[in-house]
Formats: sequence, structure tokens, C-alpha cells
Amino acid sequence: MEKQILVAGATGNLGQKICREFIKLKVPVRAIVREGSSREKITTLENMGVDIIQVNLSDELALTDACKGVSCVVSALAGLRDVIVDTQTTLLHAAVAAGVPRFIPSDFSTDFTDIPMGENRNFDLRKEFKESLDGSPIQATSIFNGAFADILRYNIPLFNVKDKTIAYFNGKADWKVDFTTMNDTAAFTAKAALDDTTPRDLQIASFSVSPNDLIGLARQYKGADFQLVNMGDLDGLSAYNKTQRAAQPEGENELYPKWQQSQYLYSMFLVHHTSIANDRYEGLTWSPVEANI
Ligand SMILES: NC(=O)c1ccc[n+]([C@@H]2O[C@H](COP(=O)([O-])OP(=O)(O)OC[C@H]3O[C@@H](n4cnc5c(N)ncnc54)[C@H](OP(=O)(O)O)[C@@H]3O)[C@@H](O)[C@H]2O)c1
Repeated sequence: MEKQILVAGATGNLGQKICREFIKLKVPVRAIVREGSSREKITTLENMGVDIIQVNLSDELALTDACKGVSCVVSALAGLRDVIVDTQTTLLHAAVAAGVPRFIPSDFSTDFTDIPMGENRNFDLRKEFKESLDGSPIQATSIFNGAFADILRYNIPLFNVKDKTIAYFNGKADWKVDFTTMNDTAAFTAKAALDDTTPRDLQIASFSVSPNDLIGLARQYKGADFQLVNMGDLDGLSAYNKTQRAAQPEGENELYPKWQQSQYLYSMFLVHHTSIANDRYEGLTWSPVEANI
């Protein structure tokens, strides 16, 4: 089958980068955008050479039309249940109806396979969609990139430049946490979308660093001694997250409420990638940690 890609969420940060990678590879790419999407972002995509289809993403028939002749649907949509479960399910039904053979969902996270339900709300939604996806007659591939590397610049507990602190949990000072830049994720995703032989899941990481690694890196690249801070037991963090979530129900309508950020911290220290597929495709380069702190 001729390669023809359809990207959902192309007006987003990651989606636009994924589109750019297909253009670089000279592979035709279509973007489905909604009526309210930013004109400026659509123009940027058009100028790159992306075909734009404006469509209502809850209209399965219109999406089926948009999916005709497509070899792989790539979703880079971001949102809560209405997007990750509902919109992606409609898009999945449309892709199946149009005979699309492959689908890459908007996972783009740490591999959540072994994270129990209830520990990370945003991962629970992905798991819910995964059930529909894996029950469909379509070849699914998830790209697991760990955390996007830019979060190392947001003074997160794991690397807080403002306070010069680095958090860890009991017994986890040497635990490796996976990070991938958005550019590296986009380049790998484009290659995976063109590869009909992908396994179900692909784990990648531009780099993996532990709290102890970060102490050395901070000294070398920030010229400062950061303090390692023991945050206690990981089970304690899980219990804290549940209490915080129950106390702040308004966060259920936000993508990244405080308790969700804390759930990400828990996930980072609970699982990490054990089967990195960085070398699967030729011609990719991986951003080093020093370029991202
Ligand atoms: N691993 C990590 O550390 C990390 C960090 C951030 C994000 N992510 C993940 O990466 C993926 C892409 O995120 P991003 O930051 O690129 O997202 P983003 O910039 O916020 O873009 C979101 C995209 O989804 C579309 N969208 C949102 N709500 C929609 C709706 N109701 N109906 C239709 N389209 C809708 C947006 O369209 P409009 O332009 O029309 O609004 C936009 O194209 C997501 O899975 C996100 O969770 C991972």
C-alpha cells in the first residue's frame, strides 16, 4: 500500500513536529483539524505541505471519508476522556471503516502497561482506549517516550533548579527515569508509522538519568551543588496522590491539576523502560541530557 498518513492533533506541539517529519521524508500527510483550530497553526501546516481537512471530529462518516487511502493514522490529540477515549474511539471506528491498516494512539508517555489503574488518571484513560484499540481489526503501535525532556526546565521535584534540589524515593537514588525530546519523539514516530512490522509497543528515550546522575550533571553543567531530598516511601506518595485527588475534584476537569503532576512523579519512579528501541531505525539522532537541563 502507498504510504499516506493522517495526523489528528496536528495543530498541537507534538502533532506539528510529527507532520514536519513526514514532509522531510517526502511522505504525503493529511491533517484533520477542527473548525475552531488556530488559523495561524493551520497556515503553518499548509506552508509545510500538509493537506488540511477540516472536519467535525465527532462525525464518524466525515472521518471515514478523511481516512480513505490512509496507511496509518497517527493521533497526537491531547485531552481528557472526551478526547482520549471518545474522540479517539470515533477516529478508530472511522479508520477501521475506511480500511486503514494501522493506528498509532496518542500515548506518548511512560510505558503504562504495568502501572495499576487508579495511580495515574491520564494513563487510565489511555488504558481504557487501548482496550478498544486492541479489540479492533487494526494494527496498533504505541510509542512510549517517558517524559518529554522539556519538563526538566520546569522546576519539577526531580530537578528543581530554583531550589537546587533533586527528589528521590527510598532506595531509588539510582533509579533511571526516561526522557525524550519532542523532536526525537516525532522523528521516531514518523519512522514507526512507515514501518509495517512494528511490535505493539515501542519504548524510546533520548536519555535516562537517575537522581544521583542529576547531582553530577548539575555540578558539571549548572556549576552548583544540588541537594538530594528523600521524599520517603513510594507507597506514601501513592496514598498522598489519592487523598489530594479526592480533596480536589475540580481537577477532574483539568488536564494537569497538581495531583496529576504528582501522579506523574509516582509513575516515573514506579516503572521505567527496559527495552529501548532507539536503534530500530537508521538516521535518527538522540538529544543528550546536557542539552536539556
Ligand atoms: N510524556 C510527556 O511528558 C508529555 C508531555 C506533554 C504531552 N504529552 C502527550 O503528547 C501528546 C500531544 O500533546 P501536545 O502537548 O502536543 O498537545 P497540544 O499541544 O495541547 O495539542 C493538542 C492537540 O489536540 C487537539 N484537540 C484538543 N482537544 C480536542 C478536541 N476536543 N477535539 C479535537 N481535537 C482536540 C488540539 O486541537 P486544536 O488546535 O484545535 O485545539 C491540538 O491539535 C498527548 O498525548 C499528550 O498527553 C506527553
